[in-house]
Amino acid sequence: MPYFVDSDLSPWNMDPALLEEALDALARAGRVPKAAIVVDLYGQSAHWAPIRRACERYGVPIVEDAAEALGASYGDRPVGGFGRYGVFSFNGNKIITTSGGGMLVSGDREGIAHARKLATQARDPAPHYEHSEIGYNYRMSNVLAAIGRGQLRVLPARVEARRRVFQWYRELLGDLPGLEFMPEASYGRSTRWLTCVLIDPGEFGATREEVRLALEAANIESRPVWKPMHLQPVFTGCRTVGGEVSEELFEEGLCLPSGSSLSESDIERITGIIREVWRKRGGS
Ligand SMILES: Cc1ncc(COP(=O)(O)O)c(C=O)c1O
Repeated sequence: MPYFVDSDLSPWNMDPALLEEALDALARAGRVPKAAIVVDLYGQSAHWAPIRRACERYGVPIVEDAAEALGASYGDRPVGGFGRYGVFSFNGNKIITTSGGGMLVSGDREGIAHARKLATQARDPAPHYEHSEIGYNYRMSNVLAAIGRGQLRVLPARVEARRRVFQWYRELLGDLPGLEFMPEASYGRSTRWLTCVLIDPGEFGATREEVRLALEAANIESRPVWKPMHLQPVFTGCRTVGGEVSEELFEEGLCLPSGSSLSESDIERITGIIREVWRKRGGS
């Protein structure tokens, strides 16, 4: 049964104080969770020091979901290694890709050996097929793994390309009132996997959705930022601590086109449409 924890408005990642509050409430009810799943969102590391302190205090193992943040760092350490387990995604939309699949990392050798067993149909050591637990077929083919190893070499260049895309957006939109970029936390370095903005309709003169539709009319795909988990119909009735911050991010947040191969003229075209929406609503 999940228990959701709200985001912190400055880095948009899990709020460590609310996590502590949730763990405290659960511990007092005698229901310490099996794990805390913490995401490094949109290419930016979570704030690991206080999150780890809170989880250690209650003996809760961390699963770090670094699917969106390969190449980012917290202090001088790369993301993915802050929990007992870390996960990465190599899905087609990620900063490097093997077309599908991902990677589990851990210093827990026994845990990794068990994960490997579960991922390969949970075969017990026997000459025939023997199963003492339920397994899965989560293997990555060696062809895709080879592509992934090749892709790893271009990771630093991809991070620079994403950060450059962000920089172009900031240069071209940074003066618009009511449009704010996702902040980069001082504790680390973001990859800017996605460039995300908040659009305050009162100040900007148009809603996030109006901007998204104007882009769509020009055949440019953008997306609202992720819908908070506690608002997903499938999790109706699950408990949440906080929730207002992620709701506000969802209400006003837009992920702009952020691919590593976008050129400066692509960004000029996209930002031209956004400026036009603003201008038509009275901006000058
Ligand atoms: C935070 C996060 N976790 C997990 C996933 C799922 O990864 P995959 O598509 O490789 O299963 C994604 C997106 O794809 C993600 O953004």
